[in-house]
Amino acid sequence: MKTDDPQTIPLLEKIVPPLLKWYDMNARILPWRENPSPYRVWISEIMLQQTRVEAAKPYFERFLAALPSIQDLAKVPEDRLMKLWEGLGYYNRARNLQKAARIILERYNGIFPQEFEDILELPGIGEYTAGAISSIAFNRPEPAVDGNVLRVMSRLLESPEDITSPAVKTKIAAALKQVYPQNRCGDFTQSLMELGATVCLPNGTPKCPECPLAEFCLARQNNTIAELPVKAPKKARKQEKRTVLLIFCGDRIAIRRRSGKGLLAGLYEFPNCEGILSEQQIREWLNSEAEIFPSVSAVHIFSHVEWHMKSCLIQVKKELPEFQWVNRESLKREITLPSAFKVFRETILSADHTPAKN
Ligand code: ADE
Ligand code: SF4
Repeated sequence: MKTDDPQTIPLLEKIVPPLLKWYDMNARILPWRENPSPYRVWISEIMLQQTRVEAAKPYFERFLAALPSIQDLAKVPEDRLMKLWEGLGYYNRARNLQKAARIILERYNGIFPQEFEDILELPGIGEYTAGAISSIAFNRPEPAVDGNVLRVMSRLLESPEDITSPAVKTKIAAALKQVYPQNRCGDFTQSLMELGATVCLPNGTPKCPECPLAEFCLARQNNTIAELPVKAPKKARKQEKRTVLLIFCGDRIAIRRRSGKGLLAGLYEFPNCEGILSEQQIREWLNSEAEIFPSVSAVHIFSHVEWHMKSCLIQVKKELPEFQWVNRESLKREITLPSAFKVFRETILSADHTPAKN
């Protein structure tokens, strides 16, 4: 049935007690679930938006050790913040965290706001994150509908609706809001996510025999689990060929900073450009004498574009002024390089001599 069917609310009311009971027995022990302060819940939810639980754990621990409070986050230098985020990707998430921390200092005296509407206004916080923080940290009946929750709801209700549609998400949130258990809002939010993450798995392989909702689940009753959830097909990603230049001058390496707008804004990178350049074109670009050796290739997949990259190791005689020049140690410890360039950094760090033979 559809998510706004009159039968939806009575069905959702029935799942609350068994789901909470299941959560009490089966919730994973996760670092952000201990002492769920607003700050800890906020940081974890932002990390978990684009990062798997297992991958996020060590980042979360390290981030909280380095920046234990909103005040620390507000004042940390940007380079240090980026280094703490290195490897998680989507670096604007970290920049927005800091913007929001500064607003919380100015507007709320450094105390995380409790009202849903105030939380929603902070940079980087949308309906999902505001719902997660409100329910988990403040025990408010505000749903947090992520992909896991959408999948559980789609199957439980046997909904024919497209879960990629924002309108469907809004309807699911509205329905869930009506059945929140007063004293266990955070646990209810997390039990839905947890069921999606550990039992009602994607790709047609849910573990229905262990599911606390099995007796209520309409997709299970009608044997339509494999067809659910319904999702409109995604647009194909744009494919881009790129040339990456690993330029040495002696033992120093050329990097540059990306512009403040767009993909990977403000982060460092190895000089690179769209298209696969010939040696001749590289020489023209650098406008300098250079020895050029073909090196490793790599593919990096962003949400809307794929980079298919070929690199060259290049030795020049003078440090070209359009780049910044750093040694290996600095490249390893101080410079934040997006994951797209990680293979190239490893190539450079593991090469024990520079490419030139003279
Ligand atoms: N994914 C998003 N938020 C989560 C949470 N609080 N616990 C586990 N997985 C999550
Ligand atoms: Fe998902 Fe199966 Fe549980 Fe239905 S019974 S909610 S399909 S795990």
